[in-house]
Amino acid sequence: MVKICCIGAGYVGGPTMAVMALKCPEIQVTVVDISEPRINAWNSDTLPIYEPGLDDVVKQCRDKNLFFSTDVERHVSESDIVFVSVNTPTKTQGLGAGKAADLTYWESAARMIADVSRSSKIVVEKSTVPVRTAEAIEKILTHNNNSRGVEFQILSNPEFLAEGTAINDLYTPDRVLIGGRGSPGGQKAVKALRDVYAHWVPLERIICTNLWSAELSKLAANAFLAQRISSVNAMSALCEATGADVSQVAHAVGTDSRIGPKFLNASVGFGGSCFQKDILNLIYICECNGLPEAASYWKQVIKVNDYQKTRFANRVVSSMFNTVSGKKIAILGFAFKKDTGDTRETPAIDVCNRLVADMAKLSIYDPRVLEEQIRKDLSVARFDWNHHQIKAEGMLEQVSVVSDAYVATKDAHGICVLTEWDEFKSLDFERIFENMRKPAFVFDGRNVVDAVKLREIGFIVYSIGKPLDSWLRNMPSVA
Ligand code: NAD
Ligand code: UDX
Repeated sequence: MVKICCIGAGYVGGPTMAVMALKCPEIQVTVVDISEPRINAWNSDTLPIYEPGLDDVVKQCRDKNLFFSTDVERHVSESDIVFVSVNTPTKTQGLGAGKAADLTYWESAARMIADVSRSSKIVVEKSTVPVRTAEAIEKILTHNNNSRGVEFQILSNPEFLAEGTAINDLYTPDRVLIGGRGSPGGQKAVKALRDVYAHWVPLERIICTNLWSAELSKLAANAFLAQRISSVNAMSALCEATGADVSQVAHAVGTDSRIGPKFLNASVGFGGSCFQKDILNLIYICECNGLPEAASYWKQVIKVNDYQKTRFANRVVSSMFNTVSGKKIAILGFAFKKDTGDTRETPAIDVCNRLVADMAKLSIYDPRVLEEQIRKDLSVARFDWNHHQIKAEGMLEQVSVVSDAYVATKDAHGICVLTEWDEFKSLDFERIFENMRKPAFVFDGRNVVDAVKLREIGFIVYSIGKPLDSWLRNMPSVA
């Protein structure tokens, strides 16, 4: 029986290995992590992450050919293929702080693999890493294990799943990418991993490249995706200024088959643990390779995203007579997108911090994010991409976290929709309007509510990139 071990039981390691175990019943898959609470949760009925369909997959194979364990060293030493899916966040201090990927976790995983290995292994980079990381990993592995005759082959196999749709993305990926060395040993390792995926992925969807292309393709794909969102968001500002409608523009543009219709939804800004981090990493790599123009091109994608979040918060304040001091504002949605409880880099953090700084009272509701997480996100100091520390506002008494949208909106002056949860589309807005202060505002950062219907009820509605109500047109410019 082939044995696979995955180091890192997070948003990628957990779902990826669960699907692999389900599709390859004759392979034993063990996911290991240094975090005991995380592993305990994977072994319980309440998994550590919310992902539609995941519970079902885990239930089908856990304790059959899928295992979760904190005994990292044993499982690594017993396996034939080791995936490394540890976190690779942006460095917060030292050289490259604010941009470069922090490879501390990766390096410690690699050193541990070298220490405990007594048999040859394929080591697979699943984490998103800077281009040429495989070279560094190879050095760590071979220099620390060269007396035992153990051979390591390094492969790059970046993951393209998106949160909220991870299980479907894993079942039917657009492509699986495998990068390896051109040597006979390297190609043998590529084939071994390809054979694993071939259990459920058609061969024509498995792309094999050299190591550096695979590593760079992951950063490139995320940069291209985020660039589309910043493009449509930049367009949304112009739509508001001119009376064009960003949904109509995006539709007209996206029907060009060379451009395509997906990923053109204007929003309050992109969030999530990957886009900003990976673009920053790309910028850093460009700078390190003496390519400042290429770096500044990608920087602009992040700048526009920051602009969009600021523009949204400014719009809220300026529409409400330029002050939100003491006013209750309902925040509907805190996760960075629907169908996940993940709040990493969610635009809600920036919008809430800005409103709290203007002395608003926030009542936050999200169907999947726990109060503890929201309070943590709003109280921890962070770094912006230019490595300026963003002070936490530290005024958490102005924030309450509630368990439904009706409580959040009761007696509120305004509502900000910051995540596109389906349930927000079917709220009883007449009831909500009755219970709000007047004039009652809705600021839709995701274009999910029916603005026409809401205006009929009596709301003043702001929708990203849509023609402005006369009320909003007459308020001071927020650009
Ligand atoms: P995560 O923080 O959810 O999980 C990482 C896990 O690794 C944590 O549980 C941590 O305890 C564990 N870990 C760290 N060092 C370890 C060590 N030495 N030994 C054992 N366990 C260790 O991160 P994630 O969201 O799963 O992302 C993992 C990687 O995948 C990152 O490089 C990320 O960029 C990439 N990625 C993420 C997504 C996504 O949607 N989240 C998608 C594609 C790629
Ligand atoms: C992303 C990539 O899509 C995925 O391939 C990669 O493996 C990890 O990073 P993820 O961050 O989970 O996935 O979600 P994604 O669906 O890409 O959304 C990222 C952010 O962009 C979210 O905040 C989302 O709301 C926003 N978004 C997305 C828009 O604002 N408009 C869009 O049209 C699409």
